[in-house]
Amino acid sequence: MPHAGPGLHLLLLWEATPARMGPEATSAELAYKYGNLSEGVCKPGYAAAKMTAIYPKFMKPAPMFLDRNFKRLAKVSSYLPPFGFKTQETIIDIILTATKNYGLGQDVDGLICKRCIIVGNGGILANKSLGSRIDDYDIVVRLNEAPVTGFGKDVGTKTTMRITYPEGAIQKPERYEKDSLFVFSAFKPLDFKWLRQMVFREKLRGTEGFWKSVARYVPKEPTEMRILNPYFIQEAAFQFIGLPLNNGLMGKGNIPTLGTVAITMALHNCDEVAVAGFGYDMNTPHAPLHYYETVKMSAIKESWTHNISKEKEFLRKLVKANVITDLTNGI
Ligand SMILES: *[C@@H]1O[C@H](CO)[C@@H](O)[C@H](O)[C@H]1NC(C)=O
Ligand SMILES: *[C@@H]1O[C@H](CO)[C@@H](O)[C@H](O)[C@H]1NC(C)=O
Ligand SMILES: *[C@@H]1O[C@H](CO)[C@@H](O)[C@H](O)[C@H]1NC(C)=O
Repeated sequence: MPHAGPGLHLLLLWEATPARMGPEATSAELAYKYGNLSEGVCKPGYAAAKMTAIYPKFMKPAPMFLDRNFKRLAKVSSYLPPFGFKTQETIIDIILTATKNYGLGQDVDGLICKRCIIVGNGGILANKSLGSRIDDYDIVVRLNEAPVTGFGKDVGTKTTMRITYPEGAIQKPERYEKDSLFVFSAFKPLDFKWLRQMVFREKLRGTEGFWKSVARYVPKEPTEMRILNPYFIQEAAFQFIGLPLNNGLMGKGNIPTLGTVAITMALHNCDEVAVAGFGYDMNTPHAPLHYYETVKMSAIKESWTHNISKEKEFLRKLVKANVITDLTNGI
C-alpha cells in the first residue's frame, strides 16, 4: 500500500467532517472533531448539530429563497401567508421570472463553511464598536430600515442581504446600500402584490391594507431581489417558539418577529450563526429602543401579532445551547 503523505491525511479528515455530522452528533463529538471550540475557524455543520441536540426533529435542508421550482416545497404549499404561499403561486411565478436569480451569488454560495450574523436593530448595539467584528462574517443580514451609513463603527458596513416586509422597507431611495440583496418576507397576501409592483416598477396602487406607509419605489434591479422561503416563519412559529397554530392562519400572538425568522433561516443555511443587537433590557426604560433613533424603550407597545416573551424564551434556549452566539449579550 503506498504511503499516504500528511497532506492526504488532512484531506481525508476534512472530507470526513460533513458526512460524520449527522443529527446524532453530540457536544462531545463536536469537541472531539473541532478541538478548541473557541478558535475562530469556521466549523462546518456546527449550528445545525447544536440545534439538533435541542430540537431532534430539526433537518438542515431548506432553501433560503424561493426558486422556479418553489411549488415542490410541500410544507409551505398548503399554508396561506405568512406560513406558506398558498393562493399566491401565480404572482410568485411572475415575480421569479423577472428576478432570475435564486441564490446569494457565486462567491458566497461557493463557500465550504459559512459564518453568518443577523444584526438586529436594538439600541444595545450603540457605542460597542462591534462594526469590524460584524463585517468579518461571510454573510451579514440586516433587517428592514436599519441604517448602515453613519453607524459603521458600531454596526459594520457590509450588508449581504436586507430582509424586509413592505411596511419595514427603506422609503428613501438614496438610503439603499449598493451590493446588497433585497430579500422580501411576506406576512400577508397583499405583500406579494406590493412586491410585484416594486419588481416591475409599477405605480403603487391599493395601499389600504398596510398598517403604515410603505416604500413606493425600491431602487434595486429585479436580479437583486429574492423571496424568503416562508417555511422559516412557519417553523419558527410552530416548531420552535410554540405559538398557537390557529388553523394555520395569522392570529393573536402567532407571528414571529423578523429577527427570529432571520435566525431560523440562518440555522438552515449557515454553518455558524451569530447575532448582535437583539433583546431589550426592560429595566432601563430610558435606553434607546433602536441604535439609530432616539425613541426610548418605554415606547414599546404590547404587540397583538408577536409574543415577545415566548420568543425570548426560545432565543435564550439557542444561546444557552450554543446554537447561536450573541455578541451583545442582550438575549
Ligand atoms: C483554546 O483557545 C483559547 C483562545 O485562543 C485559549 O485561550 C485556550 O488556552 C485554548 N485551550 C486549549 C485547551 O487549547
Ligand atoms: C453613545 O455615545 C454618544 C456619544 O458619546 C452618546 O451621545 C449616546 O447617548 C450614546 N448612546 C448610548 C445608547 O449609550
Ligand atoms: C404569549 O404566550 C403566553 C404563554 O403561552 C400567553 O400566556 C400569552 O397570553 C401570550 N401573549 C400573547 C400576546 O399572545
